[in-house]
Amino acid sequence: PDALEASILIYGASGDLTARKLLPALYDLWTDGYLTDRAPIIGVARRDKSNEEFRNEMFDAVSKSDEGITREKWDAFAQRLFYSRLDIDQPDQYADFGNDIRQLESDSGVTGKRIAYLAVTPSLFVPCVESLSQSGLIPDPEEKDWLRVVIEKPFGRDLDSAKELARDMGRLLREEQIYRIDHYLGKETVQNILLFRFGNAIFEPLLNQKYVDFVQITVAESQGMEGGRGGYYDTSGALRDVLQNHVLQLLCLTAMEPPAKFLAGNLRDEKMKVLQALKPGGDKISDWAIPGQYVASERGGESKKGYRQEDRIPDGSNRETYVAMKVKIDNWRWAGVPFYLRTGKRLPTRVTEIAIQFKQPPMQMFRTVECEGDVCDLVAARPNMLVFRIQPKEAISLTFSTKRPGMQYQIHPVTMDFAYEEAFEMKLPEAYERLLLDVIRGDNTLFTRDDELEAAWEFVDPVLEYWEGQNIEPCGYEAGTWGPKEAAELLYQAGHSWRSPQ
Ligand code: BG6
Repeated sequence: PDALEASILIYGASGDLTARKLLPALYDLWTDGYLTDRAPIIGVARRDKSNEEFRNEMFDAVSKSDEGITREKWDAFAQRLFYSRLDIDQPDQYADFGNDIRQLESDSGVTGKRIAYLAVTPSLFVPCVESLSQSGLIPDPEEKDWLRVVIEKPFGRDLDSAKELARDMGRLLREEQIYRIDHYLGKETVQNILLFRFGNAIFEPLLNQKYVDFVQITVAESQGMEGGRGGYYDTSGALRDVLQNHVLQLLCLTAMEPPAKFLAGNLRDEKMKVLQALKPGGDKISDWAIPGQYVASERGGESKKGYRQEDRIPDGSNRETYVAMKVKIDNWRWAGVPFYLRTGKRLPTRVTEIAIQFKQPPMQMFRTVECEGDVCDLVAARPNMLVFRIQPKEAISLTFSTKRPGMQYQIHPVTMDFAYEEAFEMKLPEAYERLLLDVIRGDNTLFTRDDELEAAWEFVDPVLEYWEGQNIEPCGYEAGTWGPKEAAELLYQAGHSWRSPQ
């Protein structure tokens, strides 16, 4: 590949995201030849630290994810790692900070191309941008020099705060300078949804209300509140943390129309149309949105804590650790097709998948014998199902019916699988690697636009207001199970059921 370059400032250089994701991704980009040798990477944080100390800390961090790393190779990479101290609360430091950055850039020979990654708590997004502005690091829009600013969710905690953040950032930056990361869009298998849909002729004609019975999107996690996350999580919950962003993005990619061109603007316009057509799947909120919370369990000799017993969770917290929703997309393609969405912590396994279940053939000509214990019955064929397995064991599978060998016409379901690991003998790139490269390239296709973000908040806001305003008690589910029974009932009324992916 052609190696690219920019000067990359990382605010929050002492934090977890920098150590766990950003530096390993930048190191891999350089190893794979996407990043030049000289592009400076400048850690910015409050503490006093030398370049040498910063390099050593980052070596330890990258070694954790890359076991094959050698000191020699690291030193070749790390010569462009620098550290610049800045206390955001001390505007008197801004001028020196700006000079320091400009000096490092001109010494490296990389000027006029700058990225600021704000790996900081969201309340510091605007102060960080202020500091860039007052340090003279935001180029004039008339100049050809550029600055791109990368931020990560949460982008607000409801529609009003998201709008306020957009307004404050918008005072100093233009929309096309802001790269809002939803790391799900960086996942290889998520990008493949579009390629699979619009790069093949045989599936797309079937993906509409004429043939699809329902769609199910699952983002399940087996982890709970490990790593001291409880404090943050209790202010957020499953709806804000995962459904409002990752799940709705998956929904958009599954349901959107083909864009006129495969360009960022066209693609984001199509996603936006899905969000505009998104409607509740029932009248009262409790008819279509179910909050859940895990409770203590004893299963298979293992005891698991309930959410309220986790560290840093207030007694009696009503924060949801699970959410299931039935929604509709009211447009020509999808009218009448339920979309079932769910995400949660402490479910039986970590799996993300999109399952599209097709309608039965117009006539059931064949049956099969199915037995449960001693009781056998003649049952209809299982419906066809197309599953995008996003993670782990990334795959696409299609279930269809065949004749069971024998002297009778008995129908039998089989599955055709495409597994990434078998088809391509390579490690799938990390989401952050792809997304950081896109920021350097200036391609914002895989980032969320402000209007998409607001439309997503607009949809979930009434649910949050109802749950929080009325202090609704979430439905309990035992830790390590697939969620509360109320979530099963949501589908049961329509004769549908949740899958239990392994
Ligand atoms: C993050 C959420 O955005 O996504 C976490 O804040 C969640 O709570 C994580 O665990 C899941 O990401 P992944 O890539 O592990 O599926």
